[in-house]
Amino acid sequence: MKNWFWILIGAIGAVLFIVLVIVAIVLIVKVRRRKVKPVHPLKRSTARKEASQRSTAQQTAVDATRETQDIDDMESLSGSLYSPQPWKSRRIQIRKIVDGKVEKGEPETPKWNISDPWQIDPSDLRISSRIGRGDSSEVFFGEFSEKLPLLKINSSLENKFELINNIYQVAVKMPVDSAKNKAFLKEIEFMKEIGYHENLLSMVGCSSEPKSLMILTEFCGQGNLQKLLRGSDKQSREFMILKLHFMTIARQIADALAYLVTKKIVHRDVAARNVLLTKKKKPKLCDFGMSRHIDDFTVRENERLPLQWIAPEVLEFGVFSEKSDVWSFGILLWEMYTIGGQPHAGVEETKLAHLIIKGNVALEIPEDTPEMMHQLMLTCWKPSSKERPTFEAIAQILSSSSAPEKLLSHF
Ligand SMILES: *[C@@H]1O[C@H](CO)[C@@H](O)[C@H](O)[C@H]1NC(C)=O
Ligand SMILES: *[C@@H]1O[C@H](CO)[C@@H](O)[C@H](O)[C@H]1NC(C)=O
Repeated sequence: MKNWFWILIGAIGAVLFIVLVIVAIVLIVKVRRRKVKPVHPLKRSTARKEASQRSTAQQTAVDATRETQDIDDMESLSGSLYSPQPWKSRRIQIRKIVDGKVEKGEPETPKWNISDPWQIDPSDLRISSRIGRGDSSEVFFGEFSEKLPLLKINSSLENKFELINNIYQVAVKMPVDSAKNKAFLKEIEFMKEIGYHENLLSMVGCSSEPKSLMILTEFCGQGNLQKLLRGSDKQSREFMILKLHFMTIARQIADALAYLVTKKIVHRDVAARNVLLTKKKKPKLCDFGMSRHIDDFTVRENERLPLQWIAPEVLEFGVFSEKSDVWSFGILLWEMYTIGGQPHAGVEETKLAHLIIKGNVALEIPEDTPEMMHQLMLTCWKPSSKERPTFEAIAQILSSSSAPEKLLSHF
């Protein structure tokens, strides 16, 4: 009898012990999970560097996406990681994905090299009115009377540039003071690296001479798409034709973004205000891959992240990717079909940030939007970045149904 008693006590004790251990393990796991913080993208990529040695370009592109996929996984672990107004202080370092790792752009300051084929002789340039101003640079209208350096580097581009009375019209960007020179020289190197794409505001020449630092780009006489849409007379013939070409414009921007993907550049500010139009209404995406200290060719009124264009994973974790650009591209489409609408007009920012992160944002799409574009917007806004299409896929979808560019230049 006594033996049975002690065996029973022992068994109960063992069961209690096991239960306690299980409870303890569960608690420890919970506490640990709560401690999972969004790893800074730079740090995370260092960790990945150790974990892998991928090298090919394709794998790199995959990595760029994977960056956001990790985030999707993290989302499910962590309850609310949202801190109030996280986007405010985050107008962001240069982030370039190199071989699958995110690098901060801190190469050595480039030197002036007179035999660099990109260099112009400033005396061939006549600068007139100022057309834009940012924090650290100003943009002027210019007329260049020699062959553009880009055309010496790649003569097959000659037919893309119009000569007017033996003059090339250009936009000339210059730093506002010499304290910005170093950043400006880096920007020059960056622009060389990106090279030419028809639908990017590409560099056509530069001067790295310390006394006359400048970047020459194509001149886009029609200004930016947002202004053009907002200022257009909805009854005019010109507007009707423009509207017919929304799909073509969208395709060209998607082409440009797909090109940036191949250069491993994330744009981070895809919006109608960053699409410039040439006299012939050829769209050119500007302000790519630039950081706060290298400002852009358009005037920016404030430095905060444009919340209304930002993908949820960026708001929550501050990580940009091709797929966050795809989200913004969806908003750009929306801007077109609402004829320059302001997304989420009147929604207070903190509230909007919450809504975006929770996936509760739906922009109302105008009824006369073509079904295909309607669907495209919705897939660009899939909460999970994995489910959004790539720019290559978007460009393909659009090229099957958009009008040839040639038509666009006929008005
Ligand atoms: C200057 O530029 C030329 C042409 O790109 C290049 O061959 C040369 O190595 C450069 N010199 C220096 C010192 O960087
Ligand atoms: C010149 O430009 C064309 C059109 O963008 C491009 O296909 C070609 O590869 C470029 N050539 C060189 C040498 O960069």
